Amino acid sequence: MYGPHGERYMDLISGVSVSNTGHCHPKVVEAVRNQVGLYSHLMVYGEFIQSPQVKYAEHLARILPGSLNSCYFVNSGSEAVEGALKLAKRFTGRSRIISFKNSYHGSTHGALSIQGSEIYRNSFRPLLPDTFQITFNNEKSLDAIDDKTACVIIEPVQGEAGIIYPEDDFLSKIRNKCTLTGALLIFDEIQTGFGRLGYMFAIDRFRVIPDILLLAKALGGGMPLGAFISSREIMSALVTNPSLGHITTFGGHPVCCAAGMASLNVILEEKLIESCNSKSLLFKKNLVHPLIREVRGEGLLLAVRLTDPAYIQFIIAKAPDYGIVLDYFLFCDNSFRIAPPLIISEKEIESACDSLKKILNDAGNNVKKK
Ligand SMILES: Cc1ncc(COP(=O)(O)O)c(C=O)c1O
Repeated sequence: MYGPHGERYMDLISGVSVSNTGHCHPKVVEAVRNQVGLYSHLMVYGEFIQSPQVKYAEHLARILPGSLNSCYFVNSGSEAVEGALKLAKRFTGRSRIISFKNSYHGSTHGALSIQGSEIYRNSFRPLLPDTFQITFNNEKSLDAIDDKTACVIIEPVQGEAGIIYPEDDFLSKIRNKCTLTGALLIFDEIQTGFGRLGYMFAIDRFRVIPDILLLAKALGGGMPLGAFISSREIMSALVTNPSLGHITTFGGHPVCCAAGMASLNVILEEKLIESCNSKSLLFKKNLVHPLIREVRGEGLLLAVRLTDPAYIQFIIAKAPDYGIVLDYFLFCDNSFRIAPPLIISEKEIESACDSLKKILNDAGNNVKKK
């Protein structure tokens, strides 16, 4: 990225897992230019078949497990969450929604109601009723899933909690409990999708298939786009009573779909996922410093845990002076995030790590520990 006077910055966060193919990839730019010259917005309720939507939905269905074959495009991650919650309620005829402590699913009312932080929720009550948060990686807490539960929504790897992986088949255990009780399992892969974990989706990493999959962020290749994806059978619940179960004027905008499709093709053609794990290891090998306690995560979704949370704000604020863009996590104050575009080269990783170590030295010399 470049500042107004040509200053160079290395983007180590991808606008929070959006720019997986970098900024201004020529193929994405070309797709946007072509599509905007053909048509952009046409109509709201799907009256006209728009080929960028159809082609992208087809492509997603090809790379996803067979049951995830029906794609509803929306504008954002939060709207995908809203659509999925409504779909689960409508399909099951139940109202209870179970989510996880320290989860983040967005900022609209429904998404806020299920997010796992009281600090963010409290000022906006009353929120959606019959929502319930359980503990990630705690098998006992799965007892809460019962035949009154419409759905369980989970980030397969918790993002804003600071890149927390599921342990001991936790996802399979949730899958089994949902199947047993008739609750729908929703994976929020808005942050983990499109190669970030070193796999196209967390579904491929953990081999657990949800009933509904949520995508956004990198889905649009830098343009605003979200989707909730399910089986045709489940998705059909939105077709009747009322006939327009979810309405969205701009959802699945053809220019965004064209950009997203081009970006997905770049990920596949340039084999960006294949090099993700070696790049991850290179970060881990280079990020050795007295202030670093741990580098957590896989692929290019990493959390760098420091010896003291006091350093975090200083490091993130100072990073641009060293030509680096960093970010923090909403619910993890002792770590900062590394999630660069997947196109980052090994040379760039080494240079970024050198800069990071200089920032850490600066923090060590200037910040008082808590
Ligand atoms: C896991 C997860 N779900 C949902 C969202 C909400 O997406 P959006 O900001 O596009 O509404 C985010 C955004 O950070 C996210 O990380």
